[in-house]
Amino acid sequence: MAFKIGLLGLGTVGTGTAEILLNPSGRHPLLQEIKIQRVGVRSLSKPRKVKLPPEVMITDLEAIVTDPEIEIVVELLGGLEPARSLILQAISQGKHVVTANKAVIARYGSEIYAAANEAGVYVLLEAAVGGGIPVIEPLKQSLGANRIRSVIGIVNGTTNYILTQMTIEGAEFDRVLAEAQELGYAEADPTADVDGLDAADKIAILASLAFGGRVKREDVYCEGIRQVSPVDINYAEKLGFVIKLLAIAQSDNSDQSDALQLRVHPTLVAKDLPLASINGVYNAILVEGEPLGQVMFFGPGAGAGPTASAVVSDIMNIVGVLKSSGKTETLDPLLSCSHQHYCTVTPIEEVVTRFYARFLTLDIPGVIGHLGTCFGKHNVSLESVVQIGFQNKLAEIVVVTHHVREGNFRQALEEIRTLEAIDSIPSILRVL
Ligand SMILES: NC(=O)c1ccc[n+]([C@@H]2O[C@H](COP(=O)([O-])OP(=O)(O)OC[C@H]3O[C@@H](n4cnc5c(N)ncnc54)[C@H](OP(=O)(O)O)[C@@H]3O)[C@@H](O)[C@H]2O)c1
Repeated sequence: MAFKIGLLGLGTVGTGTAEILLNPSGRHPLLQEIKIQRVGVRSLSKPRKVKLPPEVMITDLEAIVTDPEIEIVVELLGGLEPARSLILQAISQGKHVVTANKAVIARYGSEIYAAANEAGVYVLLEAAVGGGIPVIEPLKQSLGANRIRSVIGIVNGTTNYILTQMTIEGAEFDRVLAEAQELGYAEADPTADVDGLDAADKIAILASLAFGGRVKREDVYCEGIRQVSPVDINYAEKLGFVIKLLAIAQSDNSDQSDALQLRVHPTLVAKDLPLASINGVYNAILVEGEPLGQVMFFGPGAGAGPTASAVVSDIMNIVGVLKSSGKTETLDPLLSCSHQHYCTVTPIEEVVTRFYARFLTLDIPGVIGHLGTCFGKHNVSLESVVQIGFQNKLAEIVVVTHHVREGNFRQALEEIRTLEAIDSIPSILRVL
């Protein structure tokens, strides 16, 4: 007897998923027991890369999530609606759900998991973060013995590609973005990627799994890469860093509380750290736990095949459970989501981190002294101060701080802006 699945969507990931399921030879034997019962799409006339019997394809998505024969609904539509409503409807019909939709899970995860627990069904989402990289299941299972200290990821391939190309070519952000759009590495509307929103969705999901609490998406502090300039990439290089868009979830041990830092921003990463070498569209997630230490997951973060590999692994996990017990009245705690409380998130002003700042100043004696005095007044200690160059008769001064409270650093900058010798502060970046 085959396990029948309903696919919502036959786009990039849906097609990759169907290709694996229709060609199970040489893969796990469980795949031979899975049948694509229905596929829901917007247009029946669109040419498709996979051959499916015409009666399988329909446009009525509700008919799929209410079909009594279908046991697993695989949501690969993207967007918030109708994806959220269809997931909830599938759950209310007692169906298990597999989704790649980080936007829906990051925003409506609480609602969806409460409904899934009530209905006794699984909602699995390996493909939602890191595409083909297995990271969700390791966080739920293989790393479960650890106290997780931090999860730091390069989780958006588009921005990593743009920053890598800016570093190689010394080119401006806008030019590299246009190139990335031509090559299909960036969407026509790149907002979700370049403004860090996609990475914020993903770190909200990873944090929730790693730290065992719910996370409100709006609690993730988020800055994108639009303001990163080749000038800063160049200075960073000279100081021994590369610039990466990092998504960070870190337990905040500074005050012995159980609060979490949750942030996405361009970050200077020392060249000898493992995340510094992740280039192009690749993703990597570095997890640090006690007693394990550090482990890094690396691989293709998007694309039809890699993402479908993650989707199908989730389908197989559910089929494995269904096959071994035949019922799921008690959910397997290693696959389901059981936490109820919300994580406390540290306000960004309270985060303690290092900073890089670039100042344009009048070329007069004593400027560096004034900067140092202002920083000192606000308890910001400097690791290095470099006067590196000149731009339009203005001196360019770059500072890197020791670990400082962000609120103190911002107050110091407020005061520095009022100094007569300061023309502008073109960049402020954080340092890992
Ligand atoms: N692409 C990746 O590399 C990647 C990586 C990781 C995660 N994901 C996630 O995977 C999901 C799917 O992404 P994708 O790139 O495969 O999207 P896509 O190529 O745009 O495909 C979307 C599919 O859903 C169908 N669809 C969308 N809205 C519909 C509606 N209202 N009614 C009926 N059908 C509808 C479309 O039908 P038509 O074909 O008829 O237009 C299409 O088949 C998203 O949540 C995305 O974030 C994607």
